[in-house]
Amino acid sequence: MATLVRAVHRHHLQLRSELSRLTSRVGSGRSKGAGHALHRFLVDELVPHAKGEEAALYPAVDPIIKAHGTATRTMSLDHERIVGLVAIIGRLVGRIDHARGPRKVALEHQLSRAAIQLEGILLLHLDKEERDYLPLLDRFLSLRAQAAVLRGMHEG
Ligand SMILES: [Fe+2]
Ligand SMILES: [Fe+2]
Repeated sequence: MATLVRAVHRHHLQLRSELSRLTSRVGSGRSKGAGHALHRFLVDELVPHAKGEEAALYPAVDPIIKAHGTATRTMSLDHERIVGLVAIIGRLVGRIDHARGPRKVALEHQLSRAAIQLEGILLLHLDKEERDYLPLLDRFLSLRAQAAVLRGMHEG
């Protein structure tokens, strides 16, 4: 793995584990200042990471996607994650039906987290389709081709 790829990957792992640690402290009522710590991390680490990607990583990725990739691949990865969360929610709902007491409360907490995650991903996903794909289709795809796409979606 090249230095750039390894560095970005490592940074993603760090962001993920720190975010998960700080998020689990928020709302637990046990740690004072957890909200401030989370916000500080987001401002100091996450936002600069996103800005750095906008400035240097995406411009490097863009021509490579045009030449060797598919622009919609990342959206399909969203779908994969969404379907995965649907399965997790289905399993949790089934387990909650047969659980009692503190176990049930814990499962309901997990269900709530999974539902919030799904909502976040879905809202972002729909926003991308609404703000990027639909205007492009509207502008550049003939009405005849649009009708064929619609038929294809209903058959699929
Ligand atoms: Fe990133
Ligand atoms: Fe979609």
